[in-house]
Amino acid sequence: MIQSERMTVVRQAKIAHNIFELVLQGELVQDMTPGQFVHVKVSDTLEPLLRRPISIADVNKQDSQFTMIYRAEGRGTEVLSLAATGQKVDVLGPLGHGFPVEAVPTGGTALLVGGGIGVPPLHELSKQLNARGVRTIHVLGFQSENVTFYEEEFSKLGDTYYVTVDGTKGTKGFVTTLLDELKPEFDAFYCCGPLPMLKAMENAYPEKEGYLSFEERMGCGIGACFACVCQTTDQVEKDYVKVCSDGPVFPKGVVQL
Ligand code: FES
Repeated sequence: MIQSERMTVVRQAKIAHNIFELVLQGELVQDMTPGQFVHVKVSDTLEPLLRRPISIADVNKQDSQFTMIYRAEGRGTEVLSLAATGQKVDVLGPLGHGFPVEAVPTGGTALLVGGGIGVPPLHELSKQLNARGVRTIHVLGFQSENVTFYEEEFSKLGDTYYVTVDGTKGTKGFVTTLLDELKPEFDAFYCCGPLPMLKAMENAYPEKEGYLSFEERMGCGIGACFACVCQTTDQVEKDYVKVCSDGPVFPKGVVQL
């Protein structure tokens, strides 16, 4: 159920260049699933009053806490990065449809591929896959080493590989460069990142079951404004889908890439 709540900042830390980890506490954590997102009002007083869509990196239902990892790259998220422990943040969520955790059977293997700020939702996904007895392989792509994060967290959950465009960490190149070398065996893949990455994954594994999470520009976040509309392929009946309310996760082959 979508709710709006003034959640409490438990802690906030800078974990890489312009990348922040923010832990919030509140009741709407109880309804969160991996791959969903929240729409955060960055400030109550200052402009801009717009909300920002941010993915869910970790869910701790026992303590009613969740973690978001975001890039501070405009005035809105820069203001959010100043939120201190005890402060309230207005959050709308959880929004959209997340990753189908049950797509890989117990004992199977899932390939998780992420790019940049598309990496955080894969962390909660991997946790939940591991809890079901699924082996996870993580392939994480970044521009450069100074924007990488969560190496320890991902390594605890499964085999973890880094690839950077400038070669400062892991393999130099793109996620497909590394996948060509690794040739991993897996039952299904999950991918969250920029459009070229989603397209490359869809093309690389035509025979495999796969799920893609889109990071479209968003307005309302709840299906009302059409800012996030994407054209579909002729494999589906609908002419278009809304990333915010029909997605952000779609099976591969649904959205035209
Ligand atoms: Fe408004 Fe998707 S963001 S319809």
